Amino acid sequence: MVAEGDKEKVSLGTIQETMIVPLWARAIEQQQEEPILRDRMSAAIMERLDYHIEPKGVMPYLQVRLSVRGRLLDDFVLEFLGEHPRGCVIEIGCGLSTRFHRIDNGEVNWVCVDLPDLMQLREKLIDPHERLTNIKDSIFEHGWIDQVKKIGGPYMIVIEGLLPYFDKNQVTRIFKTVSDEFDGSRIAFDTQTELYRKLVKPGKLITAEDGESGLSFKWTVKQIEEIEQMEGRLHLRDTRTLPELPKKQYHRLTFKTRLLETASCLFWGRYRVNVFDILGFKSP
Ligand SMILES: C[S@@+](CC[C@H](N)C(=O)[O-])C[C@H]1O[C@@H](n2cnc3c(N)ncnc32)[C@H](O)[C@@H]1O
Repeated sequence: MVAEGDKEKVSLGTIQETMIVPLWARAIEQQQEEPILRDRMSAAIMERLDYHIEPKGVMPYLQVRLSVRGRLLDDFVLEFLGEHPRGCVIEIGCGLSTRFHRIDNGEVNWVCVDLPDLMQLREKLIDPHERLTNIKDSIFEHGWIDQVKKIGGPYMIVIEGLLPYFDKNQVTRIFKTVSDEFDGSRIAFDTQTELYRKLVKPGKLITAEDGESGLSFKWTVKQIEEIEQMEGRLHLRDTRTLPELPKKQYHRLTFKTRLLETASCLFWGRYRVNVFDILGFKSP
């Protein structure tokens, strides 16, 4: 148990603070008999933070969905590491992600990129490691690319829970940059639906006590083909949706949210976790 007075205060920009909800989701997932992902470290970090999350409203749905997102991205990275055990995984907008500690194979080089104040908090909570590099930078800057190039590939980029906060032009710019710089690599990220954008205001989830921050999702995707239309050098490798989950996991969502998933599919597409190959040419 961490004494109340010893807990770490979280005082970050609003977008940085969104990392708390996925951390909380992974932490309380550990109370399940058969957790979707095993992550005792997230539970230990959550315990050290002076932060309270009310598991009401949309939170029980989000808790399952965020655990699933983490697990699916773990599986995509494990597939990459199966082919390239000494490859380099770059987590952009890493927040307090513990993925390295969940799936480290003993050889991978891992890079975590996030904004400076978030990285300062991360450094207080997560011990340094010889194969783990922390970079304080924005995804829109070039500094992280220069640093990562010194480490060497093959590369897999993971952007978990970040792209929907940007508008379509910004996301297009990110896809162009990674395609220019990381030809032959792999990129994984999740995509939100318009329904979800309308229903969930992330700013409200994390600033419930101080009122709404105004932070909301911007970029949504109805059809997965939209991504290849935005950037022709991205080639879909795999995409997963919630109804494809093992039945036991899918039924952790309430009947109402499963119904919403079905309705969303008809009109707005589905929430997806995706992995793309970055190729400068169309495969034959
Ligand atoms: C919803 S959180 C996701 C955190 C983590 N990937 C996870 O799933 O646990 C979004 C993260 O993106 C980071 N972020 C926001 N804007 C960014 C930017 N321009 N460049 C890099 N990271 C950014 C935030 O600081 C935050 O840690």
